Amino acid sequence: MNEINIGILGCGVIGTGVAKILIEKSDLLSKRTGTKLNLKYISDLDTNRERDVKFDKGVLISDSEKIINDPEINIIVELIGGQTIAKEFIIKALKNGKHVVTANKALLSTHGNELVKIARENQVDLAFEASTAGCIPIIKTLKESHIGNHIKSISAILNGTCNYILTKISKQGFSFEQALKTAQEKGFAEADPTLDIEGIDTAHKLAILNTIAHGIDFNLEDIHVEGISRITPLDIQYASELGYTIKLLAISKFNPDNIEARVHPTMIPVSNPLSNVDNSMNAVVVDGDATGHTMLYGHGAGMMPTASAVINDIADISRTFLAGSKRRTPILGFPEKNIKKAVILPMKNLTTRYYLRCIAEDHPGVLSKVSGILGDEGISIETVHQKGMKSNGTVPVVMVTHIAKEENMLKALNKISQLDSIPEEPYLIRIEDNK
Ligand code: HSE
Repeated sequence: MNEINIGILGCGVIGTGVAKILIEKSDLLSKRTGTKLNLKYISDLDTNRERDVKFDKGVLISDSEKIINDPEINIIVELIGGQTIAKEFIIKALKNGKHVVTANKALLSTHGNELVKIARENQVDLAFEASTAGCIPIIKTLKESHIGNHIKSISAILNGTCNYILTKISKQGFSFEQALKTAQEKGFAEADPTLDIEGIDTAHKLAILNTIAHGIDFNLEDIHVEGISRITPLDIQYASELGYTIKLLAISKFNPDNIEARVHPTMIPVSNPLSNVDNSMNAVVVDGDATGHTMLYGHGAGMMPTASAVINDIADISRTFLAGSKRRTPILGFPEKNIKKAVILPMKNLTTRYYLRCIAEDHPGVLSKVSGILGDEGISIETVHQKGMKSNGTVPVVMVTHIAKEENMLKALNKISQLDSIPEEPYLIRIEDNK
């Protein structure tokens, strides 16, 4: 076999980037893989729009089915996105015996178990490096470079939009809306930015990492998800004064009886390397029992970084194919018989430290009522901070707790929110600092 034929479904930003690398770096790819990675077709409903790549005549077509059914095509790359037509095309391609590469995090995290099953039944590969953290090779790292490790934990910044917004508010005094608008203009926010802001995109990616790290099935529905929409500049300012940075973290922890899987704003010490991951950059810290901490950092979105990850999968599959094998590593990093049902720690059983912000009317006794409620729930306060009255006569009161149980913290939060002297909904941020 002197060439591998590739068909791409979707010629948007990432599809164009993948085509650019296949066409413009054809020699480099041939030198590295020992074969020609030939872009036979790329499909898009719009074949007329100007794109930053020059196709030979007949390569850009509108008929995706033609690509999926072409017996000469070895690898299908799905870059349409979404969960309807993309899913249908991937299933058809797998059933036609094609290897599939996709960047579709939403689809994998919700229908991954079904897609992996179909790929296994048809003895083809399903690769998805570009689905999580853009160009950072975290899927390969977990599947292949930590084989001798139990993965104790993963902490990651996986959404460039949220990280950009938090950075711009904390370091340049942007408003939330201003920062989001700029993220949208820069092109890394999702078409529906709620997916970014409310942590859903991060949860999609965490579901994928969780699966690969621990050999469990996809479990998106069990992941606790909170976004960044309730964080105020005041929280960011207090965090900084207390020696912390607020990041939207994806956290996966391996406990003896279960796995913690959660996405929420998190206060981390400024000394934590993730604290310095700014703007739209992504980073993943893996704690393996043999390796200790490994940190990977890079662009989590964007045309060429994401295209680079897609190309890695194409090259990997091609090399395996050329070696006469159908699949070198299991799709999820563990053979099918060793994949377990996920047992996720119920959020109410989490224990951690908390930052609690209450906006209180400035009356005598308010503070003692709040601390009394926390005490009744067995929550011990480490520090209390209060300063600056607002024009409406309220004051922000911030408390940092010792380690407490989430269930107790939520009960306390509910009682505090019912106090007449607390006119705004109180808000908590979990703290991760190994104290
Ligand atoms: N909207 C995503 C982000 C794009 O902001 O990171 C990459 O998945």
